[in-house]
Amino acid sequence: MTWKNPLKILFCGWLVLQLSGCGDSEKKTDEPPPAAKAAPETSSPPAPKISLVTAKTRETYQWYCSQCHGLKGKGDGVNARLLTVPPRDHTKADYLETRTDQQLFDAIKLGGLAVGRAPCMPSWGHTLDEKMIHSLVRYIRELCECEAF
Ligand code: HEC
Repeated sequence: MTWKNPLKILFCGWLVLQLSGCGDSEKKTDEPPPAAKAAPETSSPPAPKISLVTAKTRETYQWYCSQCHGLKGKGDGVNARLLTVPPRDHTKADYLETRTDQQLFDAIKLGGLAVGRAPCMPSWGHTLDEKMIHSLVRYIRELCECEAF
């Protein structure tokens, strides 16, 4: 080990002592407990109420949905021609405007049958969590540039 930065090493040693509670016991009384000190950094922010479309949403769509719905959601994925019912075109506003977010959510979570659609739309409730499904609904709303009536 080189001693290029002895200050850094000293500081690390001090930090370990402070965090492990093994520091000078006389000083200890004026210091807040280590857990209280660490709290502001480690506590995660409250979950957002509105689901957002993130890079992860797009990635999930490409990974799980694009083989049927197409890379751009146009319903032209590689498997599309093998299905008896064509995968829904997620860019088609005039259809998607007639479907509520809840219906889209249920179609994704429970599969096509659950919303009176073809069973070749699989259910994803065991693969994707609800937060991701909500954000996929928002992503489909981005693709169609539409909202439910
Ligand atoms: C195996 C092919 C396949 C895959 C994979 C697939 N879908 Fe579908 N999806 C379909 C088909 C087929 C339909 C059309 C059902 C119908 O119109 O009766 C459909 C319809 C839909 C609908 C519209 C339901 C409605 O109300 O008409 C949504 C929303 C949807 N899919 C979302 C997704 C999402 C999100 C994924 C990825 C997590 C996904 N799909 C993956 C085949 C697929």
